Amino acid sequence: MENLISLVNKIQRACTVLGDHGEASALPTLWDSLPAIAVVGGQSSGKSSVLESVVGKDFLPRGSGIVTRRPLVLQLHKTDEGSREYAEFLHLPRKRFTDFAAVRKEIQDETDRETGRTKQISSVPIHLSIYSPNVVNLTLIDLPGLTKVAVEGQPDSIVQDIENMVRSYIEKPNCIILAISPANQDLATSDAIKISREVDPTGERTLGVLTKIDLMDKGTDAVDMLEGRAYRLKFPWIGVVNRSQADINKNVDMIAARRREREYFANTPEYKHLAHRMGSEHLAKMLSKHLETVIKSKIPGIQSLISKTVAELEAELSRLGKPIAADAGGKLYAIMEICRSFDQIFKEHLDGVRSGGDKI
Ligand code: GDP
Ligand code: NA
Ligand code: MG
Repeated sequence: MENLISLVNKIQRACTVLGDHGEASALPTLWDSLPAIAVVGGQSSGKSSVLESVVGKDFLPRGSGIVTRRPLVLQLHKTDEGSREYAEFLHLPRKRFTDFAAVRKEIQDETDRETGRTKQISSVPIHLSIYSPNVVNLTLIDLPGLTKVAVEGQPDSIVQDIENMVRSYIEKPNCIILAISPANQDLATSDAIKISREVDPTGERTLGVLTKIDLMDKGTDAVDMLEGRAYRLKFPWIGVVNRSQADINKNVDMIAARRREREYFANTPEYKHLAHRMGSEHLAKMLSKHLETVIKSKIPGIQSLISKTVAELEAELSRLGKPIAADAGGKLYAIMEICRSFDQIFKEHLDGVRSGGDKI
């Protein structure tokens, strides 16, 4: 099954590269049909923190205020046990990052390059891939937080701009929504729930995540929410405890943070009975499972899209006629070859599904 998700990751990446070069009109459609997971919620609700702990790596800029100012499309690729972990940006194709603090710095720098060192936002995504034996194969999208008012240096339109940008990602029927709500705020005012419900009324592609459980007022707890009595979602709420700002300042590492999170749920009397379905590691598992189900149901559709792309490219090539400009013809031909080989891979995978084999 992991092979299947990894294959989809590869195709998605290829489509982005090709789509960015504006080579083939059918490719953006293909990109749209592949599943991804997007994180939505209010500013400082803990979106970047949740993504980091799902990945199990420290690499994202986090903090109070508007830190995430461009969408980050993050692809996790599981590699063989014992192999060295590294990260790669699409905008720096030949550079392998093994220092994840440098990855965080590059995200900040690349954000600044596009938006200037202001509080402006941009809808142009940053593409990052992480290769590691310690991740599950997932594509995740970190998004700027929804906000209610513009702050100094931001245009008044920013509130609407962010909402539109977020919506453009999560309204796609293939997008799995990670709706992040902080437990120390009234769930009724949760931006995550509001916008998720708007684009996914039945909740079949929304996972609710409750952050900051450790920051709730004394004498209150999240049991009603976590057991689905306060606000019922199709899938059970998952509570997490991320690192606090003080932890970030003290460089508390991920392993320590995860251990503390596990202990928190196991040792807090109110949550003990829920501990087995709480925490970042459980969330990562649920996400992976969900994604597999979605991908399986999508294979035939993706395959027919690829066949269509090949047909369109062939038509375009023959329309160019002979002799075709070496430049245009050569590129189209190369893309067609890529699509053909994907088509072949899909056929093999489909055969695996049909014969009930465990190829996938
Ligand atoms: P984002 O703006 O939604 O991406 O939120 P961040 O991940 O940047 O987090 C905002 C701030 O809240 C940071 O200072 C985090 O340390 C803090 N934070 C996030 N989640 C938790 C949590 O579960 N518990 C505590 N104590 N702090 C958290
Ligand atoms: Na923030
Ligand atoms: Mg963020």
